[in-house]
Amino acid sequence: MCGIIGYSGHRPAIPMIMDGLRRLEYRGYDSAGVAFVQNKRLETIRAQGKLDQLAAKIKASDAAHATTGLGHTRWATHGLPTEDNAHPHRDSGSHLALVHNGIIENYSSLKRELQSQGVSFSSQTDTEVLVHLISGFLNQGQDIPQAIKSTLDRVDGSYALAVINVHNPEEIWAARHSSPLILGLGTGENYVASDIPAFLPYTREVVFLEDRELVRITPSSWQVFDLRSMQEVDKTPQHISWDVQAAQKGGYRHFMLKEIMEQPEVIRDCTSGRIDPEQGSVVLEEIQDLPIPEVLHIVACGTSYHAGLWAKYLFEKWAQIPVQVDIASEFRYRSPILRKQDLVLTISQSGETADTLAGQRIAAEQGVKVLGLCNVLGSSVARESDAVIYTQAGPEISVASTKAMCSQMVALLLIALDWGRKRSFLSSDFVRRAVAGLSDLPQVMQAALPGMQDRASRLAQDFSRARSFFYLGRGMYTPLAMEGALKLKEISYIHAEGYAAGEMKHGPIALIDADFPTFALAPADELLPKLQANLQEVQARGGPILALTHPGSGVDISPVWEVPQVWGPLNSFLFLPALQLFAYEMAVYLGKDVDQPRNLAKSVTVE
Ligand code: F6R
Repeated sequence: MCGIIGYSGHRPAIPMIMDGLRRLEYRGYDSAGVAFVQNKRLETIRAQGKLDQLAAKIKASDAAHATTGLGHTRWATHGLPTEDNAHPHRDSGSHLALVHNGIIENYSSLKRELQSQGVSFSSQTDTEVLVHLISGFLNQGQDIPQAIKSTLDRVDGSYALAVINVHNPEEIWAARHSSPLILGLGTGENYVASDIPAFLPYTREVVFLEDRELVRITPSSWQVFDLRSMQEVDKTPQHISWDVQAAQKGGYRHFMLKEIMEQPEVIRDCTSGRIDPEQGSVVLEEIQDLPIPEVLHIVACGTSYHAGLWAKYLFEKWAQIPVQVDIASEFRYRSPILRKQDLVLTISQSGETADTLAGQRIAAEQGVKVLGLCNVLGSSVARESDAVIYTQAGPEISVASTKAMCSQMVALLLIALDWGRKRSFLSSDFVRRAVAGLSDLPQVMQAALPGMQDRASRLAQDFSRARSFFYLGRGMYTPLAMEGALKLKEISYIHAEGYAAGEMKHGPIALIDADFPTFALAPADELLPKLQANLQEVQARGGPILALTHPGSGVDISPVWEVPQVWGPLNSFLFLPALQLFAYEMAVYLGKDVDQPRNLAKSVTVE
């Protein structure tokens, strides 16, 4: 989603802002811009496309002296990704410049109203109404904070916004509602940003803003106000201990590959302090005060949704808890039957996904407890949950989610073990075996990953001419098949469908021919004979098959791809990187933009 950075300090602002925007590139964007005040004039420079285009325009201009400014990377929602639609937007008199993330839902009626008052618009964006409204209230004699409040009182939707004005060139005002905004505190310089990495090399002291808060920064001061009462709010800065290196590629060609290869460490980090291999037990402090639910409702999007579908099998088998798994954008608009003794579990890497947040707000409104599973400290999902389990995967930069899913699966497996044991459906021996398997897993995976990458690379070449793929699985490998298909389509742009193998003959098998390969998830488990029968149906129609399986499984298909076998459901953790690596190698072979696939954004903070 869009990225915002605002800088007010003692250094030249534009290089700082461009540096910050580059660290926000991973969020995905299609145009960018900066604004600053210089020689008592408000200047904006904007460009369609990547930051290099903007950098070239800045180089050709004179932006050397400003020490305060705003930057924005835009991911188009209203209006094409053109220069006119790029932020910052200005008021008609060029006194104000504004950047915005989110969606102004009632912008059409506001725009009509402003146009009837003679205001002319220079973009198709929803954002532009904000800057004209603020300007209108200023013209009525209000001061800046009051004009921002009056504007936001008229607005429906979500926003993180920042404003500079020509009359106070060292001052930035910013506000948020349902879109992330963070304050970074330096010495003689302060920042606002949509995301911590924007200013991480310069400060680790941050203040997380809450919904409907307004902030003012200058080089030497910061203040936060409640947008309802306009009273100042006391905020305590927090220290962020993230390593900047952790947000860099670490020698790999792409963030995605680095993040796939980090999964052994992710498993270690996510289980650290949560399993006791000596005792063979699971300790999840975070959920000790939550009653075990009668029904569990899992709500998530995309890859996180697949992690939820996967975990359903464990919750039902191990803890005998009925589970509903919903795509968040569906959950929020149906009438889910939630009872007080149920629990809503939201899964979100970013913790800012608009639909997932809306789902958890519905639960909270109905008095149902919410457990958030997320990766980003202080994110909205975390702050609005009754309890939160951090997946501890570290920053995930590649737009395609990989290690985050692995960490979500680990955390979900731990919850299922904890509840299964507490409900006495699992013996202590069973939990001991699971814990031993989990503590050995990083090592097994670490040893296997390089060979898996080589194999993935060769297989990707062999299958690179395919324009469509089926991914088939059974049981808990069905959600993994769906995830394999999602990874392939999002980064290599090859059409793929993940399906329950047993469902093929009810329609999709009509598509099978010699040009339509099937990626079969064929672990050596009790469902393998059933899966093999389905694969024979594919073979009988001339469909090529690639079978991911275990040594000695007896799967008689060529090519087979064997990965090491571990204990029970932990095998999913070795199938997952195989699927990720296959998609990765395919995208690399086809020359695609692996880390920033077209049309996608890292954090989907709009509906
Ligand atoms: C796919 C992917 C998306 C996200 C989805 C939810 O690779 O990254 O499908 O999983 O947008 O995002 P979070 O988990 O941040 O809520």
